[in-house]
This record gives sequence, structure tokens and C-alpha cells, in this order.
Amino acid sequence: MKIALLGYGKMGRIIEKIAIDRKNEIVLKIDENNAHELTTENLKKADVAIEFSIPDTVLGHIDACFKANVPIVVGTTGWYGHLQRIKDDCVDGGHTLLYASNFSVGVNVFFHVNKILAKLMNNYPYYDVQVEEIHHTQKLDSPSGTAITIAEGIIDGLADKKEWVNELVDAGASAQEVVKPDQVLIESLRVENVPGTHTVIYDSEVDTIEFKHTAHNRNGFALGAVLAAEWVQGKKGFYSVKDMFNFSL
Ligand SMILES: NC(=O)c1ccc[n+]([C@@H]2O[C@H](COP(=O)([O-])OP(=O)(O)OC[C@H]3O[C@@H](n4cnc5c(N)ncnc54)[C@H](O)[C@@H]3O)[C@@H](O)[C@H]2O)c1
Repeated sequence: MKIALLGYGKMGRIIEKIAIDRKNEIVLKIDENNAHELTTENLKKADVAIEFSIPDTVLGHIDACFKANVPIVVGTTGWYGHLQRIKDDCVDGGHTLLYASNFSVGVNVFFHVNKILAKLMNNYPYYDVQVEEIHHTQKLDSPSGTAITIAEGIIDGLADKKEWVNELVDAGASAQEVVKPDQVLIESLRVENVPGTHTVIYDSEVDTIEFKHTAHNRNGFALGAVLAAEWVQGKKGFYSVKDMFNFSL
């Protein structure tokens, strides 16, 4: 498979290594220093593009891939307010896009079990729920896309929760946000060198249940993105990583 890397930062570099180990070839690398090389002609040299850049550039990268008719796998987070427009453009134009707030197998298992747990906890309304996410200090978006997916899974499962609210909290401090009964609080902490930790906390007067995922490094995200690039080959349409993992009990 010939791959274009759109965004060549921490994730782009790990993806390059894993993709080459899996006998793929990198034919284009785009970052802020050579953005002018992102042309239709250059993109057409690739079978697929893998996009890990920044929220300000991701939409332009998606549009460029649609224009060149090259399937795109999107890992960048912080653009989901535009999801419906992108989905419509993708389907109407006969293009191919797969996105994930988190490509790791472990986190996708976590997402699945989180939804089941939320449905179960519906029977025990004296527990209140919140989500905590911890990431490195260079992360641009808050809360993380992964935390949003977790909160949406909880809102899906718990009848009395309708929306999430985020609070960026200094390490060591506790959340000050006044949370309404129908809201799920996401506490976002930024700590040096943390690749990503997410905890769902159900708290009652008598005990606390914690369900936690800790990424040890970025390799799991990168491998999932390369697997997704392989998976979309020959497919048309708009996919999320759920379509690829397709968990069932
Ligand atoms: N979905 C997942 O599994 C997953 C996992 C990790 C990170 N992420 C997300 O992926 C994104 C990238 O993460 P990262 O850790 O590699 O960040 P990073 O800061 O290391 O890299 C971002 C890269 O964006 C590129 N960039 C900046 N401006 C650009 C421009 N104008 N044109 C082209 N490229 C430009 C640069 O190459 C830069 O290095 C973030 O949104 C992060 O939240 C997603």
C-alpha cells in the first residue's frame, strides 16, 4: 500500500515506522513546512492518506483527499462539530473516510464496555458519574476526543444524562464546575509526557467504582491507524473505527 502522511508530528513518525514494518511505502509526507506540496497530483500517488495533524488543518486535508479521490483515515481530533458536513460531502461525492477519536484496540474495547456499564448503572441512580482524562501538556483540544466518545457512551446508556460539560483542571486541584443533574462532567488534566489516561468514575456515598484505560505509549494508536488504512482499501463511504472493530459479545 502506498501511503500519504498528512501531519508528520509525534503520531506521523510512529505511523511511518509501523507502516514500513508492515511492508507499506510512504509516498508523501506533509507538515507545516511543506504544506504547498499537498496537491491533487501528489496525493494521487497514494492508495490512502493517514491524517494526524492539528484541528486547524484537518478539514483542508480531508477536502484535498476528496478532491483527489484518495481514501483518508483521520486521527486528528477537535473537528467533530463539522462531522455531519464532512459525512454528507463524503457520501454525496462517493468518497472514502474512516475516523476515530482513538484507534487503539484497548480503548475501543473500553468504549464498548463503557456503554454496557452505563446501561447497567441505569438501575442504580444513587451513583453519580464523571469522566477524567489526562494528557500531555502539548495537546491542543480539551476535552480529548476519546473523553467525548466515553461521555457520549454514558449519555447513550444512562437515561437521566443529556449532555457533557468539560472543565480543564490544574493538577492537584479539583473541579469547580457546577454540574447539573443531567450533565456528565469531564475533568481534563494536562500533565507532562502522559500519552492518554481515561477513567470513568461512578461514585456513591458508600463506594466508588473506577473503570480506567492507561495508554503506555502511542504505538497502539499508530498501529490501529495503519490497520484502518488497510481495512478501507476497496471500500466506499463514511466509516468510524467501530465499523472496523465490530465488537459483539
Ligand atoms: N485518533 C487517535 O487514536 C489519536 C491518537 C493520538 C493523537 N491523536 C490526535 O492526532 C493529532 C496529532 O497528534 P500528534 O501527537 O502527532 O501531534 P503533533 O503536535 O506531534 O503533530 C501535529 C503535526 O501537525 C502538522 N501540522 C501543523 N500544521 C500543519 C499544516 N499547516 N499543514 C500540515 N501539517 C501541519 C505538523 O506536522 C505537526 O507536527 C492531534 O489532534 C491528537 O489529538 C489522535
